[in-house]
Amino acid sequence: MTPRAALTAIDAIRRHFAARLASGREAPMIAAELENVLTLLAGVDFSHPDEKHLQASGHPVVEQLRHTDIENGDPATAAIFQAFQAQLDALPWRYSYAPRPDAPDIGARMAWAELVGPIAPFHSDKVCLGLTAIGPRLLYPLHYHPAVETYLVVSGTAAWTAAGVTRSHPPGALILHPANIVHAMETGDEPLLAAYAWTGEVATLSAYVDGN
Ligand SMILES: [Fe+2]
Repeated sequence: MTPRAALTAIDAIRRHFAARLASGREAPMIAAELENVLTLLAGVDFSHPDEKHLQASGHPVVEQLRHTDIENGDPATAAIFQAFQAQLDALPWRYSYAPRPDAPDIGARMAWAELVGPIAPFHSDKVCLGLTAIGPRLLYPLHYHPAVETYLVVSGTAAWTAAGVTRSHPPGALILHPANIVHAMETGDEPLLAAYAWTGEVATLSAYVDGN
């Protein structure tokens, strides 16, 4: 992935977050976190990418996304999908949990590609920005992390669980996970592609609730 392509994709997410904040229609907690994310991103040096984190990963999750139809997407998030679609092969996908005996193939069917963060082409110790991809008919099991997390659904309607409450969120939905809330996602026939931002304790990795 070229630095220019990565910046185009990052800018698509930033512009969407800024428009949602400016709309005045988001819940106060979500608006406050969008403002926090945008402020922290404004402090990132985008002029010196670490190109070793822009190498194509060859991750099999790309195959899970290959047939996603952007016509199913919300118009407001279609621009983000388009910014990424031609880059799916080139993104630095990874999956860093330990293997799970109850889901031996999960690491091949879901992954995330971080573009801003401690381990990313654009370095920050204060904010992460990236994409999460979950293939069809997959449970991303209950997990938690100390970072505050904002998700924007780009494509795919999945079942999202947080603090024991499950809701279906379509493209365009913004979902806020406060620090250490236990959460999970489960896809149906469609894969899920969602942009995410982390703030706060971003260096601590996510952990599964059952310790795997
Ligand atoms: Fe999370």
